[in-house]
Amino acid sequence: MERAKASRYLVTLFLSLIQVATAQTTNSPLASALYVFGDNSVDVGNNNYLNTLFKSNHKPYGRDWHGYSRPTGRFSNGKLFVDYLAEYLGLPYPPPNLSPGEPKIKGVNFASAGSGVLNSTASILRVASLSGQLDWFRKHLKTLRAWTGEVWANHIIGDAVYVISTGSNDYSNNYLLDPSQHDNVDEDTFVELIYNEMVSFVHELLAVGARKIMVVSFTPSHCDPSQLLTQLPDPSTDLFCQDPYNMLPRRFSEALRYRIQSSLTNGMLPRRSSLSGAPTYVVYGNIYDTIFAFVTNSSSNAYFKRQDSPCCGPTSEEDDDFPGFLNCNEFTATACSNADDYVYWDSLHYTQRVQEYLANRLWNGTFGVDCHPFCLQELAALP
Ligand SMILES: *[C@@H]1O[C@H](CO)[C@@H](O)[C@H](O)[C@H]1NC(C)=O
Ligand SMILES: *[C@@H]1O[C@H](CO)[C@@H](O)[C@H](O)[C@H]1NC(C)=O
Ligand SMILES: *[C@@H]1O[C@H](CO)[C@@H](O)[C@H](O)[C@H]1NC(C)=O
Repeated sequence: MERAKASRYLVTLFLSLIQVATAQTTNSPLASALYVFGDNSVDVGNNNYLNTLFKSNHKPYGRDWHGYSRPTGRFSNGKLFVDYLAEYLGLPYPPPNLSPGEPKIKGVNFASAGSGVLNSTASILRVASLSGQLDWFRKHLKTLRAWTGEVWANHIIGDAVYVISTGSNDYSNNYLLDPSQHDNVDEDTFVELIYNEMVSFVHELLAVGARKIMVVSFTPSHCDPSQLLTQLPDPSTDLFCQDPYNMLPRRFSEALRYRIQSSLTNGMLPRRSSLSGAPTYVVYGNIYDTIFAFVTNSSSNAYFKRQDSPCCGPTSEEDDDFPGFLNCNEFTATACSNADDYVYWDSLHYTQRVQEYLANRLWNGTFGVDCHPFCLQELAALP
């Protein structure tokens, strides 16, 4: 009797110790803040506040947001991969920079759908370019310093994780659609232009004190249902998103990875923080190959029933009266009942299920495959 009581007591004690330990891990974030820059792959609602058509603040976007329907401005049925990354870091979802009212101490999302690395890509849709997002960030840092004081602000800036996800629109909305560029600028020159701009953006972030940066690859945008409807004669053939001409996004991604890494090793990017003198790290996250495999590899059928057509929007050429981002809405489109069966949510953007896979790979995937040289979990843990 006594022994049973004692062991029950021990079990209770043990369980509450575990609870304390778990509470501590969930309560102490693995980074001071998460800052996000980029395009529709990571916009969580900045475009809601801009005078542009490229918005997703309407139904059925956000249909599966935390189990209830809430259109937030995210281009998906629920969370984006950066939301999952915030969760893994133990941080709140970084709010859109333009959302009024809330003090943004633990991170900000500056991304604007439709933008790219180049200024000209953002101006097509009147959204915030990468350099505009950098201006927002600099402004935010002033506010942050005013709120927290210089010393604490510098700590936040240096201990934060920075994620950049953009570039696909430079290719699909800018280069590919503009014959004057396509005819006059060869692909290598265009790739060179993109990664020079990206490296200089990374340089600017390091210059204000960022130390832990992940640059995410482009997406296989040539496999998007919107592209397939308009560009390939027959999506059901073996050529399905394999057309060599359309492999440019992959070359972009490889070239970008190489460029970022060589810029670090040959000293083009500073290896010490301008604020604290502590080491800086720039890692590369590969989402291209994960998505490409989901779309093309027949064994991913085990995870997704539909790899090439979207859950929401028209699925045949006849119905495609609207450009990809406008065709998922409650008036002219219907959405499938279970988005988890699909790779694509609309004809340009991925479902929440894909987003979670992407986040997992970026967080703790395989070194040298998903992350170069290491993943976000390691990046965040570095001193
Ligand atoms: C992009 O626009 C910004 C602000 O107008 C300007 O400072 C920057 O030099 C431009 N970048 C390029 C590559 O033209
Ligand atoms: C297809 O996916 C399977 C399982 O994930 C993997 O083993 C295989 O290497 C993939 N094939 C290609 C061509 O990527
Ligand atoms: C990777 O991280 C995710 C999210 O925290 C977790 O669910 C998963 O178990 C981790 N995988 C490994 C191999 O650590």
